[in-house]
Amino acid sequence: MSASTATPATPGINAHQGTALITGASSGIGAVYADRLARRGYDLILVARNRDRLARLAERLTSETGRSVEIVTADLGADADVRRVETLLRTDASITLLVNNAGIGAAGTLLQSDADKMALMIALNVTALTRLTYAAAHGLVARGKGTIINIASIVAVAPELLNGVYGGSKAFVLAFTQSLQHELADQGVRVQAVLPGAIRTAFWDVAGQPVENLPQDWVMSAEDLVDAALSGLDQGEVVTLPSLPDAADWHAFEAARAALGPNLSRSVPAARFRVA
Ligand SMILES: NC(=O)c1ccc[n+]([C@@H]2O[C@H](COP(=O)([O-])OP(=O)(O)OC[C@H]3O[C@@H](n4cnc5c(N)ncnc54)[C@H](OP(=O)(O)O)[C@@H]3O)[C@@H](O)[C@H]2O)c1
Repeated sequence: MSASTATPATPGINAHQGTALITGASSGIGAVYADRLARRGYDLILVARNRDRLARLAERLTSETGRSVEIVTADLGADADVRRVETLLRTDASITLLVNNAGIGAAGTLLQSDADKMALMIALNVTALTRLTYAAAHGLVARGKGTIINIASIVAVAPELLNGVYGGSKAFVLAFTQSLQHELADQGVRVQAVLPGAIRTAFWDVAGQPVENLPQDWVMSAEDLVDAALSGLDQGEVVTLPSLPDAADWHAFEAARAALGPNLSRSVPAARFRVA
């Protein structure tokens, strides 16, 4: 993981890197990924619901970078739209990078939250991300190269901070990404989970907690977040926590998890559970 917030070196602005498909590209973190990846030499497919915002971003990036930018309007909480984007990922062999960024959060407690809204959050944050990853992974493995970036959150490891369903959805993204990396690493496909802290975007309006109410020394800009996350990717990280000053803290966390390994599954219960 990374503690770096430095702007990464841009590897050859004119070197064509293939096409990056970015979900949730109409605003916030996704829109900054679109900007940075176009400048790194990727053509883009930008996916979100808001056509006007996508079109304005596509126009700006085409004129500033000369890259080809396609927009796809899709509601990734709706099954038929997810399947449309899956088809694109399966059939467009130019796609070398998928950024699974679209997501929504909530700040309310479990008992304050509406179950239908929580199910919609799971559909977007978990089900769509999983389906799109599957759709992309087969082609990337067949071609022996490519990258999948999954935007998780620090609540993946701190689920008490915000709404529990949101924390659970992001814990899924982290575990899914670590498992994918384990499976795909020797097949030429890079996988990265990014765990942002609080980022100044419209996310907080949707979650029902104005970002202005947070301690401002917790809040990072989307530009700094994406530049740090891409630096983490360049450094070969699987999990990138852009805020964490000392990478050793994450390595200690992972080492503690690994230390459980030999005792996670045994033929008898632990001594403290034995019936007297
Ligand atoms: N901001 C933070 O503090 C923070 C912290 C940790 C993790 N994250 C994660 O970062 C990711 C991006 O969030 P953000 O902060 O950039 O918030 P944002 O500015 O609200 O962006 C969310 C993006 O997702 C798209 N989206 C929302 N619902 C969608 C749907 N049903 N179908 C397709 N696209 C949809 C939105 O576009 P349309 O409305 O046009 O569809 C928008 O482009 C999310 O996964 C979020 O969980 C954010």
